[in-house]
Amino acid sequence: MTTTANDITYRLEQKRRVQADFPGPKSIALTERRKAVVAAGVASTVPVFVADADGGIIHDVDGNSFIDLGSGIAVTSVGASDPAVVGAVKEAVEHFTHTCFMVTPYEGYVAVAEQLNRLTPGDHEKRTVLFNSGAEAVENAVKVARLATGRDAVVAFDHAYHGRTNLTMALTAKAMPYKTNFGPFAPEVYRMPMSYPYREENPAITGAEAAKRAITMIEKQIGGEQVAAIIIEPIQGEGGFIVPAEGFLPALAAWARDKGVVFIADEVQSGFCRTGEWFAVNHEGVVPDIITMAKGIAGGMPLSAITGRADLLDAVHPGGLGGTYGGNPVACAAALASIGSMEQYGLNARAKHIEELALGKLRELATDQPVVGDVRGRGAMLAIELVQAGSKEPNPELTKAVAAACLKEGVIILTCGTYGNVIRLLPPLVISDELLLDGLQVLAAAIKANA
Ligand SMILES: Cc1ncc(COP(=O)(O)O)c(C=O)c1O
Repeated sequence: MTTTANDITYRLEQKRRVQADFPGPKSIALTERRKAVVAAGVASTVPVFVADADGGIIHDVDGNSFIDLGSGIAVTSVGASDPAVVGAVKEAVEHFTHTCFMVTPYEGYVAVAEQLNRLTPGDHEKRTVLFNSGAEAVENAVKVARLATGRDAVVAFDHAYHGRTNLTMALTAKAMPYKTNFGPFAPEVYRMPMSYPYREENPAITGAEAAKRAITMIEKQIGGEQVAAIIIEPIQGEGGFIVPAEGFLPALAAWARDKGVVFIADEVQSGFCRTGEWFAVNHEGVVPDIITMAKGIAGGMPLSAITGRADLLDAVHPGGLGGTYGGNPVACAAALASIGSMEQYGLNARAKHIEELALGKLRELATDQPVVGDVRGRGAMLAIELVQAGSKEPNPELTKAVAAACLKEGVIILTCGTYGNVIRLLPPLVISDELLLDGLQVLAAAIKANA
């Protein structure tokens, strides 16, 4: 057991150690079994199978240890085996695994709703509903907005990612691999230009001006009074960790309020301390009408939620919202423990600390390496955009090569971006400084070697 300055105790040694020729025999055998039975459409980034994970480390079945800079796509912020979460899950599962909240309710669901109503922005009267996945939360946020406003149109943005179900595919901007050949898609979804500071034609455009550009298009193409909801990721995730220019989100939210349009912040990826605040909208004081949450909410157990204005959510008739597993009691116990750990470990401060440690290193890299076109992000949601040296031309080949080189050294790094040219850093917030710095040094070396 090792302990950091943050009083986080690790069960596994926090050290990177990989054999030169991994994947090892057990992972190779499992990959063969998998190929025979698992659909090819499910792809995995890393060719090894997991045996154990804790803090910032993932062990595979052949004894290799990897530094985890992905958190299972922004999920395991408190670690993949946080003792409080593990204990709460064990305790809950010994009593009952499921009754269905819509049949026989239980306290855990209510307690999670109380926590989410407390933690989400705004001191207005709120209501919460629990589901299983991020996409399901997004679907339900749109359902509520349409019912409450009596309108159909939904506005989403360039580079958006909201999930893989039919409506959320329609809301998602990127064709391959998410949409191609999966249509027809849900109607009444309109896409507007995002504020993407690095790639603006006019680099001087302000957030307020970028919002005006979108609002003008909405008013011309749809009509403000026809719009049920605007849905936006306050920091776009799969689209490339795009942080909109300051003022963009507040201006959109103000316009939405004025027009009776429901402003939905999709915080599935950016929520729960990831950016150094409970939610990314907090950085600009934006109070969404509805907020969608998942991923980091429950320490790895499947749970998602929408929390929003009581008048909107209570507009829905009894039975209009729900699902067999939504707010499963074991997942609720995990969420309560996970939120407790976030508070106990001070994970907002920890995310800010990760930003301080990592941003400086990434900026140095950008100064040294002309292929690093942009460095951006907040807290522990950080990214670099890789380009052809001397231009802004996306460099997805280099991005793939860098991620592969990091993996070879035992560092799991995820890529993203509309152009496939963004390296994103999403470490568990409980990662030790030593491990993070080791991972960053591997990343820097991989970029230098492949640029
Ligand atoms: C912003 C955002 N919304 C929605 C989703 C969909 O979540 P899920 O994969 O749990 O359905 C994701 C997943 O990456 C996401 O990042």
